[in-house]
Amino acid sequence: MRPLIAGNWKMNGLSGAAAEVDRLLADFAGSTPDSLDILICPPTTLIAAFASRFENAGLLIGGQDCHPDAFGAHTGDISAEMLIDAGACFVIVGHSERRADHHESDALVRAKAMAALRAGLTPIVCVGESEAQRDAGQAEAVVAQQLKGSLPDTREGDEIVVAYEPVWAIGTGRTPTLADIDAMHASIRRHVGHGVRILYGGSVKPSNAREILARDNVNGALVGGASLTAADFADIIRAA
Ligand code: 13P
Repeated sequence: MRPLIAGNWKMNGLSGAAAEVDRLLADFAGSTPDSLDILICPPTTLIAAFASRFENAGLLIGGQDCHPDAFGAHTGDISAEMLIDAGACFVIVGHSERRADHHESDALVRAKAMAALRAGLTPIVCVGESEAQRDAGQAEAVVAQQLKGSLPDTREGDEIVVAYEPVWAIGTGRTPTLADIDAMHASIRRHVGHGVRILYGGSVKPSNAREILARDNVNGALVGGASLTAADFADIIRAA
């Protein structure tokens, strides 16, 4: 399966951050390798500028969230249609930071994923257990429940991506053992079709990317902190 390496910039990046993406492209002599998909999800304010500036360089641009509705009285929200209009082709939905900060339920995440498909975006549906849930031996059951509640109904030709991001591994420098990644990704695979890419996310960095990306059923990575620095993100792309 064609790997997808996605950078989630979260709430980081002002207009000058385009220079960091220029450095990333310079690392690949102007255009990215065509054996994999490379996606950057910058803050919404940068999507349109990044999409027009980098589309010819082979970079994909995505959003970090969308509202279930196409338009309407929802102050401060962004619809999937608006993301497409700005040049995005993917959108992250159900990131654990949104599930925590904005109390997003599985049902809401599912509605957002359905909105993405309606608009023609590929949703990246995030799931992952907390540390307490893992310690209690519930990690696979929790993720299975999240998948059941959050995955959209798909029709022929719809593309979705699942990202497994254990909450306790995000921004902590800690990662599950490779055996735990194997077990979880195999478990997720039982819930999704064979064509669905399953990304691992949580403290992916140049030093661990190669071993994680080599595992069965790991079809790419969702990278936070290390995607903000061109040199680190380039190393992760090379690892894939
Ligand atoms: P870090 O790579 O900073 O741990 O973040 C992972 C993440 O949340 C990506 O969505």
